[in-house]
Amino acid sequence: MFLKRITLLREDIPSMDRYPFSMPSIKTLDEIHLESNVTFFVGENGSGKSTLLEAIADKCDFNTAGGGRNNTYDVYASESALGKYIRLSWLPKVTNGFFLRAESFYNFATHIDEVDDTGFRSYGGRSLHEQSHGESFLSLFLHRFKGKSIYLLDEPEAALSPARQLTFLKIIHDLASKGDAQFIIATHSPILLGYPDADILSFDDGHISKIEYEMTDHYQITKYFLQHREKFLSEIFSEEE
Ligand SMILES: Nc1ncnc2c1ncn2[C@@H]1O[C@H](COP(=O)(O)OP(=O)(O)OP(=O)(O)O)[C@@H](O)[C@H]1O
Ligand SMILES: [Mg+2]
Repeated sequence: MFLKRITLLREDIPSMDRYPFSMPSIKTLDEIHLESNVTFFVGENGSGKSTLLEAIADKCDFNTAGGGRNNTYDVYASESALGKYIRLSWLPKVTNGFFLRAESFYNFATHIDEVDDTGFRSYGGRSLHEQSHGESFLSLFLHRFKGKSIYLLDEPEAALSPARQLTFLKIIHDLASKGDAQFIIATHSPILLGYPDADILSFDDGHISKIEYEMTDHYQITKYFLQHREKFLSEIFSEEE
């Protein structure tokens, strides 16, 4: 593990009434202690997961549009509003790593097309644009992810079939169990969240706090849906507008 603590620099914040500080999860944030080499961020849409992940990427000097330290390209509105106002505490510090932002991965692929002169060695030997969405994610995870690194991944499941999500769990396991890699992953996937010994931080209910896998909505709603699909759907469909 490398990144141990994230601290909100409250005294530097001009006003708590505006984005991103007005979000309940950030408004109540003091410190987050990271205790596992795999940490998940979960929570409702809009609860602040991407905002915090982006801020961490910013502080790591990764491109906040997606990529590592050496990936210089621009994407509209990808700068971090929170980055200046957090402190990262490391032991030891790593500078290598990657920020995956699913929504601007296309731009990252274009950037790599423009600058790569190695025959796409870090991406499976083919332009990311010539691979399917899921194939390109897996190529990145398999070929670019190596060495002592921190990986900040925002909804990596977006492109992955259930079977490939399991492949991805194995990749996380292989990298993390060597002690070489730390992952912080924002996800809605009940499959990814099932990674053993991960810490899950919930951004719901107005604060960021640890939650057990089985207590997450992702687990409970998915489980209930799969076991009682018809009943569940008829309940939802019969609800009054
Ligand atoms: N640049 C911005 N200016 C103002 N508000 C913003 C800005 N970017 C995001 N927000 C708001 O901040 C909130 C948190 O957004 P964020 O993207 O962090 O959510 P999230 O937890 O990642 O959600 P999701 O699960 O849908 O990806 C949202 O309500 C969003 O509308
Ligand atoms: Mg998000």
